[in-house]
Amino acid sequence: MAKILILGGTQWLGRTIALQALGEGHEVTCLARGTTGGFPDGATAITADRETDGAYDLAAASSWDLVVELTRKPAHAKAAVEALSPHAGHWVYVSSCSAYALHSKPGAAEAAQLLAALDSSAEYTDEQYGAAKAGCEWLTVASRGNAALLVRPGLIGGPGDPSGRTTYWPLRFADGREPVLVPQDEDDARYVQIVDVRDLAAFILRAGLDGRHGPVNAVGAEMPLGDVIASAQSAAGYTGEVIAYPLHRMQQDGVEPWAGPCSLPLVLPAGNDFAGFARRSDRKALRWGLVRRPLAETFADIIAADGAVVVAGADGPRSGLSADHEAELIGQLA
Ligand SMILES: NC(=O)c1ccc[n+]([C@@H]2O[C@H](COP(=O)([O-])OP(=O)(O)OC[C@H]3O[C@@H](n4cnc5c(N)ncnc54)[C@H](OP(=O)(O)O)[C@@H]3O)[C@@H](O)[C@H]2O)c1
Repeated sequence: MAKILILGGTQWLGRTIALQALGEGHEVTCLARGTTGGFPDGATAITADRETDGAYDLAAASSWDLVVELTRKPAHAKAAVEALSPHAGHWVYVSSCSAYALHSKPGAAEAAQLLAALDSSAEYTDEQYGAAKAGCEWLTVASRGNAALLVRPGLIGGPGDPSGRTTYWPLRFADGREPVLVPQDEDDARYVQIVDVRDLAAFILRAGLDGRHGPVNAVGAEMPLGDVIASAQSAAGYTGEVIAYPLHRMQQDGVEPWAGPCSLPLVLPAGNDFAGFARRSDRKALRWGLVRRPLAETFADIIAADGAVVVAGADGPRSGLSADHEAELIGQLA
C-alpha cells in the first residue's frame, strides 16, 4: 500500500485516479479547494487554495510515496515542488500533448520539441494552456530531475467528459432525433486518438508507482475520423438516416472544428498543421503498460452513464451542434 497525494483529485481525471488508487488499497489524500465537485469518498481531504500562502503546509507535514500533480498553472507547479519535493518519493506531473510546439508530423515521439515554457510569474490564460503545461513540466524537472514522470495525455474521453468532445457523437446517435448530421472527411485525412479516462488513470498510477521517469505520450489508438463516428453510431444502435456533411463547408456555415458550441466535435481543422495532432506515437506508453479498452466500449459506457444528461442546456451544448443549427444545416444540404 502506498501513500499517495493528489494535487487536485476533485474533478474528472484526478477523481478517477483517486478512486482507482483507493480501490487498489492505497491511502489517498487530495489537496484542492473542493469547490466544484467535492472530495472523493474515502480520500483524506486537504482543503486549500493554491493561490494563498501556506497552501502546502499540511501536506508538507507528511511524507508521500507518490505525488500526482494535475495543475495547468506554472506558479502552482513551482510552489508545489518547492514545498513538497523533499517529502515525496516519486512525482507524476500530468502534462498534455498540447505542450508540443508542432502537431504536423504523424508518429512524433516524446523527443519532439515543446512550446516555449510559460514562466511561473506570468498570468495564466486558457490561450496559453500548451505553453503553461510546458512550463509546469520544466519546473518539475528543474526541481526533481530524474525523479519525475511527465505524462502527456492526448484527448481524454469517457463518461462525464466535461468538455463534451467525446460524449457528443455517442449521445447524439442515442438521443432519438433523426436524421443525424455526420462529418464527411472528403480527403480521409483526419484522425482521432481518444484515451479512456479510466485507462489513463490506471496508467498514471501504474507508471508512477513503478517509478517510471521522463516524458511519455499517453494516447489512444489512432483511428480515422469516419471509423470513430461509425463506432459511436454502432454503440448507440442507431439505424436511422445519416446526412453526410462535407467538411469544406464548415467555414462558410460558421461551424467550428474540434470543440465548443456550434462545432463538429473531434473534427480537426483542415491542413498540414494538424496532420500529426491525433497521431502521436504511443509506443513508449504501451511498453510501460498502458492498456486501452476498445473505443466502442468507451462510447457504450458514455451512453449508459451520460445518456440521461441533457446535452443541450440553456447556454447550448458544451460541444457540438444545437438541434436547431443541425436542422438548419441539414435543410441547406437538401
Ligand atoms: N481533457 C483532456 O482531453 C486533456 C488532455 C490532455 C491533458 N489533460 C490534463 O488532464 C488533467 C485533467 O484533470 P482533471 O480532470 O482532474 O481536471 P482539472 O480541471 O485539470 O483539475 C484541476 C484540479 O486542481 C484543483 N484546483 C484548481 N485550482 C485550484 C486552486 N486555486 N487551489 C487548489 N486546487 C485547485 C481543482 O479542484 P478544486 O476546483 O476543487 O479546487 C481540480 O481538482 C489536467 O492536468 C489537464 O491539463 C486533459
